[in-house]
Amino acid sequence: MGNLYLVTGGAGFIGSHIATALVNRGDQVRILDNLLTGHRSNLAHLEGKIEFIEGSICDVEVTRQAVEGVKIVFHEAAIPSVPRSVVEPRFTHEANVEGTFNVLLAAKEAGVKRLVFAASSSAYGDTEVLPKHVEMYPNPLSPYAAQKLFGEFYCQVFSKVYGLETVALRYFNVFGPRQDPSSPYSGVISKFVTSLLANEPPLIFGDGEQTRDFTYVDNVVSANLLAAEAPNASGSVVNVGVGDRISLNQLLAELQKILGTNLTPNYAELRAGDVRDSQADILLTEKLIGYKPLVSLAEGLRQTVEWYKQNQ
Ligand code: UD1
Repeated sequence: MGNLYLVTGGAGFIGSHIATALVNRGDQVRILDNLLTGHRSNLAHLEGKIEFIEGSICDVEVTRQAVEGVKIVFHEAAIPSVPRSVVEPRFTHEANVEGTFNVLLAAKEAGVKRLVFAASSSAYGDTEVLPKHVEMYPNPLSPYAAQKLFGEFYCQVFSKVYGLETVALRYFNVFGPRQDPSSPYSGVISKFVTSLLANEPPLIFGDGEQTRDFTYVDNVVSANLLAAEAPNASGSVVNVGVGDRISLNQLLAELQKILGTNLTPNYAELRAGDVRDSQADILLTEKLIGYKPLVSLAEGLRQTVEWYKQNQ
């Protein structure tokens, strides 16, 4: 019997990619997901190869069952989105903070070796200096940012006090196949690509000059697998990005080039809680867990467009 891995939020966008990578290398995988923002269809290709528990990380009993016999937890379950957290602060707090606490406590009680946490670049807020590195004082601008930061602090405390190994990965704007474009809170790349494919003008909040370090999902999967094994990483927080940034206007131009479209976007008011610029410093990530981005933005965009073409 190999090691058992738990992916919370494993039916979601990022979680399903982590689960796939684990199954592909022959590991045993259990998934805990309440299918609120995740979909069983994200796991269709893994049918019969994984154990699936339908339930919420807010349910203490089901979370306890999910961690039983598990060696490593990838904790991806969350209610993402900055604007959603502005509209639904309590609901997102329950999932992102209390849910994370439940997973950590259950993992500690079950003797899990290590938990890798999906943290967020939003914790930085606006900074005077780019790229952003983890020594910077956090400056959350939204409930979501505060909730994810809280999760990081809890991870560190569980390492220090209870000896549960943890690594928190601050994801920078992840995109790729299976990212769900259907909600008003969906990630911008999923929104832009599906609008362009439908020949509808994309919507840009603000002037479109805000920048992001868009990170293809395969890079995030590789960071997770490395973080699960890295010998001297417990208790740490590291960035997972590419180390570059482009504006939304530039992003849209890149996508139009790939798709051969020429649609003029509509501009709307900037969203509350929005960060102006975002770019990861990934030096520490390389040093601590050996991470290097494997897929460039250009290549990631091409693969993502291809996937939406086939699957929309
Ligand atoms: C934030 C976090 C990210 C986190 C994610 C979870 C930052 C820098 N990043 O992403 O780490 O994982 O939340 O949800 O805080 N936009 C449009 N048109 C659209 C949709 C979005 O213009 O149709 C704009 C947004 O206003 C924003 C940018 O595109 O300026 C990116 O938005 P989104 O993809 O939602 O991610 P962030 O809020 O940047």
